Amino acid sequence: MNNFEPNLVGFLCNWCSYAGADSAGSRKLQYPAAFKAVRVMCSGRVDPQMILKAFAEGADGVTIFGCHPGDCHYKEGNRKAESRETLLRQVLPDLGIEPERLRLEWISASEGSRFVEVVEEFYQDIKAMGPLKKRATA
Ligand code: FES
Repeated sequence: MNNFEPNLVGFLCNWCSYAGADSAGSRKLQYPAAFKAVRVMCSGRVDPQMILKAFAEGADGVTIFGCHPGDCHYKEGNRKAESRETLLRQVLPDLGIEPERLRLEWISASEGSRFVEVVEEFYQDIKAMGPLKKRATA
């Protein structure tokens, strides 16, 4: 049996994803306690340095949550997040981090159930991968 408990960090945009997570909480939907939410105004605000710092300081997996395409309150913030995520996933192996440890998801304010599903799925995926052995330097 795998006793590993992953540390997960999620950056949630304030306007859609955080509201979605909040609605999950209001409905008492459960998700793994290992998940730590960081509220940001927009997914486009998540600098790659923030992600690398999370990995360097103990995260085994990091997810960026943003509004669905077309719904970003800052117009193109989620598209910027998507571009950064794509680039960062290409660099992560050079830092000893499997790209699967970084994920980007769109969650609206009404998708509390979807939010819980994504966190649970990510938790199981990272649990199966095991702990991040090599730490990135931020
Ligand atoms: S405000 Fe949600 S992704 Fe930009």
